Amino acid sequence: MLLAWKKFGRGRRLILPCLAVLLLVLVIIYTSQNLSSLCYQSSKILNRLGFNQNIVEDVLLSRSKPPPGRTIFFIETSCHRADFQYNLSSIKAHQACPIESAALHNPNMQVFVLFACSTHHAKSMPIVDALLSYKNVQFRELTLERYAQDTPVADWIKNGKLFSSRFLMYHLSDLLRLITLYRFGGVYLDMDVLSLRTLEDVPLNYAGAESLDSIGNSVISLEPNGFGHQLGELFLQNFQKNYIGSAWAHNGPMVLVRVLRELCGTQNITLMVNNRERCYGFQVFNVSDIYEIPWRQWTLFFEPKHANLTLERTKDSRMVHMWNHLVRKWPLKIDSKAAYLHWAAQHCPRVLAATGELFY
Ligand SMILES: *[C@@H]1O[C@H](CO)[C@@H](O)[C@H](O)[C@H]1NC(C)=O
Ligand SMILES: *[C@@H]1O[C@H](CO)[C@@H](O)[C@H](O)[C@H]1NC(C)=O
Ligand SMILES: *[C@@H]1O[C@H](CO)[C@@H](O)[C@H](O)[C@H]1NC(C)=O
Ligand SMILES: *[C@@H]1O[C@H](CO)[C@@H](O)[C@H](O)[C@H]1NC(C)=O
Repeated sequence: MLLAWKKFGRGRRLILPCLAVLLLVLVIIYTSQNLSSLCYQSSKILNRLGFNQNIVEDVLLSRSKPPPGRTIFFIETSCHRADFQYNLSSIKAHQACPIESAALHNPNMQVFVLFACSTHHAKSMPIVDALLSYKNVQFRELTLERYAQDTPVADWIKNGKLFSSRFLMYHLSDLLRLITLYRFGGVYLDMDVLSLRTLEDVPLNYAGAESLDSIGNSVISLEPNGFGHQLGELFLQNFQKNYIGSAWAHNGPMVLVRVLRELCGTQNITLMVNNRERCYGFQVFNVSDIYEIPWRQWTLFFEPKHANLTLERTKDSRMVHMWNHLVRKWPLKIDSKAAYLHWAAQHCPRVLAATGELFY
């Protein structure tokens, strides 16, 4: 009897500490979610506090705006939680290389790199300077709420559901590319899409098949008005209507798949490929044009022994998608014979020259 009571007493003594720990865990989860969302609202807050000394201009407030339909966009959604800022010195060579390749191969287009978080521009960073040595490269930041204004997702952004995401940085990126194309048209590229040739000869309104049953969202192009703009509206509505904070591809590539299946009147993506008639003028590129190397084979970019095979397989590709979020093989030695460095020498020579012995 006494023993049982003692046991119960000990159990009761444990309840309080357990509750305290549970509470602490909940508070941490809650604040960390809010902290990440603060990142994307911080410039508003910092403005209010009078701390705003960014050199990077807001894309909507700057006097020189992206020319509609003639701009290639890259978007960086990383944000350092410590100070709700992004520092341009964080741009790695393997992110800068795709940006340079777009600027190099499309001299008649503008290349706008947008930052979703308040962004510093400290002086003299070799990789950043290499990019800005191109007349058609511009850096801008955006403020989510202002950027979403006058778009189909304006009210939805305010309800905060986006911030319940388990993959906020990625879901924000999925959304911002659609808002960007809705606003300006043109071309959106992920920072791990290397351009091997020009896009200037391809009429706008396209994306690429990633496999037999998926369409990638790492490359999307829309016209700034007419059909392209309507399609942009459909993408945004579909994103918002089907949004699930805990899902991965569901809010990204699957938005394109759902909308294009309806538009092209078929479930079969192979039937959409190179078939603009079927899709009201929208071009779905063949897998080999952009996503020839699937993510499971990413070592092909890094292993010198695979270089010849990799270059052979991509010799007719327009672009190569590198799967940066999966690849953890950086840095490469600058004299490596890997396919990646072979490409870097041709398609991002200035970034390559700005890196030291190691290419990160
Ligand atoms: C940005 O990063 C560089 C290099 O890490 C550092 O020297 C600089 O102070 C940082 N700038 C700001 C404003 O944080
Ligand atoms: C899609 O169409 C292609 C070409 O007609 C055909 O070979 C393939 O079997 C179809 N796929 C499905 C899942 O129906
Ligand atoms: C389309 O891509 C597939 C997969 O990479 C490739 O086998 C096929 O030859 C390509 N077709 C054309 C017409 O390029
Ligand atoms: C790749 O091709 C080059 C030129 O054709 C050749 O010299 C080299 O030995 C090849 N490398 C490998 C690993 O097969």
